[in-house]
Amino acid sequence: MRELIKKLQAEARELIKDIKPSGDEGFDKYLDSDSEVKRKVNIAVKIGLNLCNSKKILDISTGCGWFPWVLRRMGHEIIYTDNLNERCTLSIQVRKALELNDCIDFVYKKTHQRERTDNSTIWPYRPLPDLGNFDIIAACSVTPHTFFDKASWHAFIGDALLRLHYKGFLYIAPNVSSGWNELRKVVESYRSTKALQGWKIYDYYHN
Ligand SMILES: C[S@@+](CC[C@H](N)C(=O)[O-])C[C@H]1O[C@@H](n2cnc3c(N)ncnc32)[C@H](O)[C@@H]1O
Repeated sequence: MRELIKKLQAEARELIKDIKPSGDEGFDKYLDSDSEVKRKVNIAVKIGLNLCNSKKILDISTGCGWFPWVLRRMGHEIIYTDNLNERCTLSIQVRKALELNDCIDFVYKKTHQRERTDNSTIWPYRPLPDLGNFDIIAACSVTPHTFFDKASWHAFIGDALLRLHYKGFLYIAPNVSSGWNELRKVVESYRSTKALQGWKIYDYYHN
């Protein structure tokens, strides 16, 4: 893997060399192509994507697109989405430099109007569009403003279960611990009804 990482790092450095930092540290960290490539290859290895034939993968909220870029180089077929109205122009620039020109516009839309059901309050979300079925659905480093409460995690996992092949792999890694707590509760409820049998949720904090 070390050789692959080195090779991809050199390639990535060259591809994004003309992109200027935006001045916002939160965004500019994605210009550190060496760490992004290493991190994404490591995720791929954890999921076993270095040891299998080509898989069909969906990456939700791809950001700069480092995960699809790495996975394509590893020979996988990948579709990726993000909110194309995202204020972060840096991610648009990086995706363009990485020749990722087919990002699908998809946002889990949280309206500011709550809808009441019998005994609970839910946020309505736009469902995942029909992009086919996948061996793996991933959401790497998603933040609480993206998927932050039980209703949104339910929407995310429910959507994914409809689109995953049998024994597919669901990889979700919230990048803050509060996101993980909400997610854990939802995963447990799916597991208790056996709806998640054959699928796995990746626990970023305990693996
Ligand atoms: C921290 S970045 C992670 C990017 C990428 N997955 C990675 O690992 O490098 C979070 C991403 O979530 C996207 N996002 C934010 N709110 C969203 C929403 N409501 N629905 C879908 N994506 C959203 C942003 O555009 C951003 O690209």
